[in-house]
Amino acid sequence: MPFYVRVGKVPPKRHTTFYKDDGKSLYREELFSTKGFSGIYSNKYHLDMPPQVEKISQIKNAKSSDWPDAPLQYYHFFTDDKKTGGNFISSRNEFLKNDNCIVSTANPTEDTDIFFRNSYAHEILFVHQGTGELLSEYGRLQFQEWDYIVVPKGTTYQVKFKNYKKAKLFIIESSTPFDIPKHFRNEYGQLTEDAPYYERDFKVPELMDPIDQKGKFEILLKVRNKFFRYLVPHHPFDVVGWDGFLYPYTFNIKEYAPKVGKIHLPPPIHLVFTTQHFVICNFVPRLFDFHPDSIPAPYYHSNVDSDEVLYYVHGNFVSRKGIKKGSITLHPMGIPHGPQPGKTEASIGKKETDEYAIMIDTFQPLHPTKNVKETMAEGYSKSWLE
Ligand SMILES: [Fe+2]
Repeated sequence: MPFYVRVGKVPPKRHTTFYKDDGKSLYREELFSTKGFSGIYSNKYHLDMPPQVEKISQIKNAKSSDWPDAPLQYYHFFTDDKKTGGNFISSRNEFLKNDNCIVSTANPTEDTDIFFRNSYAHEILFVHQGTGELLSEYGRLQFQEWDYIVVPKGTTYQVKFKNYKKAKLFIIESSTPFDIPKHFRNEYGQLTEDAPYYERDFKVPELMDPIDQKGKFEILLKVRNKFFRYLVPHHPFDVVGWDGFLYPYTFNIKEYAPKVGKIHLPPPIHLVFTTQHFVICNFVPRLFDFHPDSIPAPYYHSNVDSDEVLYYVHGNFVSRKGIKKGSITLHPMGIPHGPQPGKTEASIGKKETDEYAIMIDTFQPLHPTKNVKETMAEGYSKSWLE
């Protein structure tokens, strides 16, 4: 939702008659909105009525991955040690969760004709590996490696990778929308001169021709930890035009312009997206602090109101040892954290970093799942003992 977009055919005035070529039958307008009728929204114009459904069935839940007695401690785990394969929906593995945030990865190995709609959560699909396209009612959204794909709650979509050999997604679900931080916008909503990104960095879907197909189309709906199968009688991508602020879009992490300070700047300087219950920052290659005695590694800190999750994308992270591509660390609120032994000293005099990592700071505790237990590095939480 970085800005207003209008594509395809839309009537000159919303909520008015909009006839098909026969001059008699109507296109069906659908308002797609957030915060009731008060948040950002789009209007989509369909060939068929959006609520049409022939059959609804609940899918039997797979075994729960909850780990109720997970200890309060530091965690380091390897998401690449948990690859289950399947399509872009079935290959997901949840690692950390609370009521407002779920952190998963997926290594999809195959295509599917099934459509997906997360009915209770907005999603960020960070494309760690692979290229392809996200198809939705809004059109074709091409994605590249290291794109954040922001998908509004309730969007019906499919993810198609060009090649499934190494496809990998890092997925963040949120109960509230992913927003551009308010202080990156001026009073008119335009991104400011000192924001770390610019409108041109955001890519929006290209509208495809509406698909006028009748038949049986399967949509898988996710409702928290339940799944429902909807069988609908027309192709979901039957939109002739839409306009508004609510739509899927991409932003590539390499486009983020980091800020550099004289002495160490805290994580809010790396902010990318906010939600009501957590924030997302990203660490990207940058020059280090330029005070002659500066310490580039962070100081030890207790963020008593946030759990801190780091997903490691690429490079050597300045404050951690033993990190692999696809590692995640969790440093829960209530216990201090910071560089592992030797990392503070090793950072002194360093001029720059090549690291790429994504950080999620949640304002409620996250619960590790059994997938964390299965893939975690033993002894990480005692690795500060010298
Ligand atoms: Fe931290």
